[in-house]
Amino acid sequence: MLGARGGWQALRGCASLPRAQPAVRLRVREALGAREPAGEVKVQGWVRSVRSQKEVLFLHINDGSSLENLQVVADPSLENRDLTFGSAVEVQGKLVKSPHKMQNMELKAETIRVVGPCDTWSFPLKMKERHPLEYVRQFPHLRCRNNMLGSLLRIRSEATAAIHSFFQDNGYVHIHTPIITSNDCEGAGELFQIETSNEARESAEKTHFFNVPAFLTVSGQLHLEVMAGAFTHVFTFGPTFRAENSQSRRHLAEFYMVEAELSFTESLQDVMQVMEDLFKTATNTVLSKCPRDVELFHKYIAPAQKDRLEQVLKNKFVTISYNEAVEILKQASQTFTFKPEWGCDLQTEHEKYLVKHCGEVPVFVINYPYDLKPFYMRDNEDGPQHTVAAVDLLVPGIGELCGGSLREERLPFLKSRLQRLGLADAYEWYLDLRKFGSVPHGGFGMGFERYLQYILGVDNIKDVIPFPRFPHSCIL
Ligand code: 4AD
Ligand code: MG
Repeated sequence: MLGARGGWQALRGCASLPRAQPAVRLRVREALGAREPAGEVKVQGWVRSVRSQKEVLFLHINDGSSLENLQVVADPSLENRDLTFGSAVEVQGKLVKSPHKMQNMELKAETIRVVGPCDTWSFPLKMKERHPLEYVRQFPHLRCRNNMLGSLLRIRSEATAAIHSFFQDNGYVHIHTPIITSNDCEGAGELFQIETSNEARESAEKTHFFNVPAFLTVSGQLHLEVMAGAFTHVFTFGPTFRAENSQSRRHLAEFYMVEAELSFTESLQDVMQVMEDLFKTATNTVLSKCPRDVELFHKYIAPAQKDRLEQVLKNKFVTISYNEAVEILKQASQTFTFKPEWGCDLQTEHEKYLVKHCGEVPVFVINYPYDLKPFYMRDNEDGPQHTVAAVDLLVPGIGELCGGSLREERLPFLKSRLQRLGLADAYEWYLDLRKFGSVPHGGFGMGFERYLQYILGVDNIKDVIPFPRFPHSCIL
């Protein structure tokens, strides 16, 4: 049997295949996009609708390759009791031009084989119903067969590829940073500790599998900094774990983070330019590669998002300093639950206000208070309000999408900060990087799920991941 690609090439090469040849297997997407009719093709997928008329039987088949279904037209004699919504089928027949304006091709069935029947009564998805995201979230093992989640997962796949291409095209080396690590890069203590099941049982007298406490990574940044000391431009894109409140609409315990590190970079603006270019390039690629899938979200989930996104892609992102941000918040007519004061972290309500104040566009906030940020950020040596060269990118509806900074590359500055935190021994290897050929550098991390939420206008972060977890019902 030919694979999908082989099938496509075979069809392109010869419009009408001789009868004796075995059926060419086609994906639904390929069948819909075929330019010529073709004899003896085979399509496999799941039934999205069955409509039986006196003279003709209509099926719609989907195999996840596109949002659109392939229409199958068959003689009513091919109908069978197992041919229901949700069943898995293999249809063989001829690909012919469709008389309908809305579709290019349809499959005239000669045989229909039900590969796996589906009990429509107990199947939670129903034919022709537009199920709300909240409803399908209850069925993490079945919801990928729903249009909305199918589109989301194709977009997620294209966005992943677009992000990799952006960095590869710009000369970055991709690094697989460790998932199990002993460092807490962010110093926020939001760590999941790893232990063997034996260790968990014998917790009184602890011996660690790795001899030291080990955690799931909260960021690959420190490992990327190692590599930036040899390759100048590096990136990583992998799973990240935080023991944070995952019941919020923008926090997950397990999420994907894209991180980049650039050596020989003295200006925070250079780091911000990469963030902006990454966002715009990846989004333009997604919009051009999956227009129908994105349209589904922009039509049914966030109707105003399409126009807003087009504007965002055309214009330069806004930049304000943390000092300016606090002034804007202090002058706001709105009363906040957390009173804005210099030195305090920006809360979600503050981020929302700032984004609104700037016209509901992405906003870079730069130069945060020294005491608010992790040890690795570069001291701006200013005063009396002491800041570091940090940047957060805030976006409408989400808040923080990216966080980055220049890194402290000067040994005395870094050493004294780590000593004050009592971390100088643990981070001896990190200090080494400043002893042996240290260069000014900077980088950032972007939350991939928050990125998808923003471009698609999805309110709940659980709706942009393949497998949502429910504490009380289902852990896959
Ligand atoms: O701002 P954060 O904590 O930055 C870092 O970890 C840096 N070390 C990155 C770097 O400079 N290489 O996290 C980066 C981004 C956030 O802006 C947010 O989008 C996302 O990761 N993020 C989360 N996304 C979903 N659920 C969570 N619990 C998240 N925590 C952070
Ligand atoms: Mg942050």
